[in-house]
Amino acid sequence: MAVKLAVQGGTPVIPKGFIKDWPPVSELDRKMVLASLDGACHTYGPNCTALEQEFAGWMGVKHALFANSGTAALHMCLVACGCGVGDEVIVPAYTWPSSATCCLHHNIIPVFVDIDWATMNIDLDKIEAAVTPRTRAIIAVHLHGLALDMGRLMAIARRHNLIVIEDFCQAHGAAFNGRRVGTFGLVGASSTNQNKCLSSGEGGFFVSNDKEAFERGKTLWYFGESRPPDGSKEFHTYGMGWMYRCTDLTAAFARAQLTRLDEYLAQQQVNAARLTAGLKGVPNLILPTATPAGCTHNWYNYTIRFDMEALGHARDAASFRDKLVKALNAEGVQTGVWQGWPVPKMTVFQARNAYGKGCPWSCPHAGPVSYALEQFPVAQRHCDWHTGMTTPLRSPNGPEVADRVTEAFHKVLTHLDQVERL
Ligand SMILES: Cc1ncc(COP(=O)(O)O)c(C=O)c1O
Repeated sequence: MAVKLAVQGGTPVIPKGFIKDWPPVSELDRKMVLASLDGACHTYGPNCTALEQEFAGWMGVKHALFANSGTAALHMCLVACGCGVGDEVIVPAYTWPSSATCCLHHNIIPVFVDIDWATMNIDLDKIEAAVTPRTRAIIAVHLHGLALDMGRLMAIARRHNLIVIEDFCQAHGAAFNGRRVGTFGLVGASSTNQNKCLSSGEGGFFVSNDKEAFERGKTLWYFGESRPPDGSKEFHTYGMGWMYRCTDLTAAFARAQLTRLDEYLAQQQVNAARLTAGLKGVPNLILPTATPAGCTHNWYNYTIRFDMEALGHARDAASFRDKLVKALNAEGVQTGVWQGWPVPKMTVFQARNAYGKGCPWSCPHAGPVSYALEQFPVAQRHCDWHTGMTTPLRSPNGPEVADRVTEAFHKVLTHLDQVERL
């Protein structure tokens, strides 16, 4: 019998409910969140301080502060590094937008560097050309959970006297030469947003091994208020500050999830290996198998590129990719376009739409910066060719889900005539 794709009215490979939602919620989660609810402190409370210690212990860093988002933590990182008006900070041209917009929060100018096609992380060979006398720091993003080569990055930073900030929002547990990412830079930011490997709905950590940097970043966290060493409250604002604290309920959920993080990450390794083995047999896919020496992947996001040249769709790559994704979704595969835009292509940068009146770019301390798109051809091609998956690889989903996902990819990629008709 002829095979009919689900998008053309056939039977989906993966039935509804087969792939389990993320994150799994257990009795421990319920118990800890309810205990927090029944407690006396629903703002920054005992679960927050306990979580900070537990996360710092898990990471192997001296200091961790629980904030209400990874973006808040990134903002604190920039302040911890003393970055401000007129400074430039290097960021990859393909990442979550707030890896770059965090700079705008503090009147700092992001300077974009294209990504490397194989790893999808910043192209280490292109960083030095972007350095100017105003460059202060590099935000090292470990995208999709793949550790950036921190040996090479730290050497570049040392050569140009730049501070390293790590955005490891997606990269819990990924490592370079056996050391966890998030521990190489002066400071780092992590996220516990819904989709992250450590999930508590929303939240984030600002981390550092450097006490002074940590204290500088922390001034932003609570209205610019600094506490005297005895911890007493002064009700006095010393400088610019935001409200970046998180709640005790959220911290209780994060604490319960943290007890299972190692187990989750181990399952992701098993699932990703199974998926890679299966998808190797599917035509016209470019699999995310490039892991430079010493770098490990936590498989936060399993990102595949369709080989649009081989498929004959190099000229209309994004629209044909959208058809392939639609066909895969119809088969029950939870896959999608994670970011369809290189970050510098977004209106915020093209229209220089931040503080108004052209700031921070028009500030008298600023130098000229170009966001011309021809500088980022790899990021653009990646945007047009990729699709990514998170939930199908996450616990409690196991290899049985990876096998069904493989089957669905095989079905769609071997019945392209039905995709072309969409
Ligand atoms: C690479 C990266 N950086 C920063 C963030 C921001 O984290 P949050 O959503 O917690 O603000 C995210 C979240 O998706 C991310 O993926």
